Amino acid sequence: MTTSDENRVVIFDTTLRDGEQSPGATMTHAEKLEIAGLLDEMGVDIIEAGFPIASEGDFRAVSEIARNAKNSVICGLARANLKDIDRCWEAVKHAAQPRIHTFIGTSPLHRAIPNLTKDEMAERIHETVTHARNLCDNVQWSPMDATRTEWDYLARVVEIAIKAGATTINIPDTVGYTAPVESADLIRRLIAEVPGADEVVFATHCHNDLGMATANSLAAVEGGARQIECTINGLGERAGNTALEEVVMAMKVRNDILPYHTRIDSTKIMHLSRRVATVSGFQVQPNKAIVGKNAFAHESGIHQDGMLKNAETFEIMRPEDVGLTETNIVMGKHSGRAALRSKLKNLGIELAENQLSDVFVRFKELADRKKEVFDEDLIALVTAGEDAENDRLVLKSLRVVCGTGGQAEAEMVMSIDGKETSATEQGDGPVDATFKAVRQLHPNDAHLSLYQVHAVTEGTDAQATVSVRLEEGGNIATGQSADTDTVVASAKAYINALNRLLTRRAKLGENEKEVSYKDVS
Ligand code: KIV
Ligand code: ZN
Repeated sequence: MTTSDENRVVIFDTTLRDGEQSPGATMTHAEKLEIAGLLDEMGVDIIEAGFPIASEGDFRAVSEIARNAKNSVICGLARANLKDIDRCWEAVKHAAQPRIHTFIGTSPLHRAIPNLTKDEMAERIHETVTHARNLCDNVQWSPMDATRTEWDYLARVVEIAIKAGATTINIPDTVGYTAPVESADLIRRLIAEVPGADEVVFATHCHNDLGMATANSLAAVEGGARQIECTINGLGERAGNTALEEVVMAMKVRNDILPYHTRIDSTKIMHLSRRVATVSGFQVQPNKAIVGKNAFAHESGIHQDGMLKNAETFEIMRPEDVGLTETNIVMGKHSGRAALRSKLKNLGIELAENQLSDVFVRFKELADRKKEVFDEDLIALVTAGEDAENDRLVLKSLRVVCGTGGQAEAEMVMSIDGKETSATEQGDGPVDATFKAVRQLHPNDAHLSLYQVHAVTEGTDAQATVSVRLEEGGNIATGQSADTDTVVASAKAYINALNRLLTRRAKLGENEKEVSYKDVS
């Protein structure tokens, strides 16, 4: 079956907005710029870069992403009020191709929160979409919780938004409530029955609460939607959003029955997936479709035998199609700087000279401790060193005594704002003792809401990547680190999270909290 432009599906990535607003997935400014650059390079049509009114940080990130964008349209989110929309425009206007995305909750449950009647809400939609359109030619409007909105009212407000100048109408399944047949029917019916529907693009935005986001998005496309909203790794609060890699690969692999095409370079998927997992602290489950560690692994005897005879027996796509290069032993302690640069380049990682020098030193240290350095080790090494320059807290040394016959003890030296101090603490195991030592040196009330350890590769000398999430007064920060010593990686990840909390606190002011798009105004 051939595809035509009628079958071109626009990919709208909201990793940096819907994904980043999920608790704990907060990214730094530099990380947001990096992810936006990678999305642009991968061929994402529209990047939803953030929610500019949420905080100074969000505003700055959206503005800078807008300035840097090469090919993608840069979109910002705004609630249905003039202040939000103006702020959004101030941020996205720097893009060669800006878009304002404004929304309001239209279902009975959502209408009740701002306490608007149906007529009052309809008036607000007309006013805000008109205002957005006066600022920007490219306006997207969303009736939040569309799939639980009464049909008559949904059709009425979609018509109002189109008449007011919206160019894309997004139909969100905000709570992941719909199912594929219903998702397709809803879009089909809106296109057939709403006056003016043929002049706009319909989009689908599905959450994954019942595990149907990918199926619902693809069904919406079959119903006539031509924009899919999604995130890398399906990042997003609760069960997440539609995963970009799943819809893109489904349309590619099953193009015989899903004859749609996108502009995405699928060979960039794996690298983006790893970067988003690292910077968000949301690890990808091993059996996750397309990007999970086991997605292309064949363990059982029958599978391995079949794979050796003909890869197609158990593989419906090639690992290279998603940018997965075979894990091989890459380098040892005699490898030089040029080899490291070239290997990292093959992995999609390009570093400035000073960054490369830093990674090279740490690579040599790792190669001394670990016989075989794998691709995954290098990726962990590169990502573990982030933020170091501006950190107020730095781990200098750690000695831990643990085992049977008594409590574990951690002896730690930490530099705080350049001054070294030491502490010894006992605890219920080495990690507990270590975290207590950090708290003794830098007293804080941050609540530890996640502590996660992953082995980067196989073997007892494997590096461990550790994620630590801390919450303090409404602010959440995730820290990461990697080391062949799990306790050292844990200490560094905890300190990394604390440094991030300190930075956020300094940026926001002690008691200020970011606005969420769910705060109705
Ligand atoms: O899920 C949702 O409804 C949203 C809207 C803001 C589009 O993210
Ligand atoms: Zn959403």
